[in-house]
Amino acid sequence: MPEEALEEIHRGLEVPLSRVYSVVTFFKAFSLTPRGRHIINVCMGTACHVRGSDKVLEQIEKELGIGTGDNTKDLRFTLETVNCVGACALGPMVIIGEDYHGEMTPEKVSEVLKSYS
Ligand code: FES
Repeated sequence: MPEEALEEIHRGLEVPLSRVYSVVTFFKAFSLTPRGRHIINVCMGTACHVRGSDKVLEQIEKELGIGTGDNTKDLRFTLETVNCVGACALGPMVIIGEDYHGEMTPEKVSEVLKSYS
């Protein structure tokens, strides 16, 4: 969210600017910095971890040349992790936008990423 938007919310709702910041920084859905068109969430919950989600995450970081929490330079992707999305039986899970990719392997990463422009 740009600073101007926070100021407008502050004025429009007549709440302290500090309160607007506290809400924006608390909820993961908001961000004060630009994010990629596609948000990748790699599940690092226990079930996914024991099935190799750490290797999947490493492969995604390698392919995109970014670390967790970063954006690609072209803002195509933002890479994040999450702790369980409730689909443990299908782990390792990778969520890209609203798409759930179950039983991910490092070998599948490249093909899956290619389908997002
Ligand atoms: S631990 Fe990954 S979906 Fe539950």
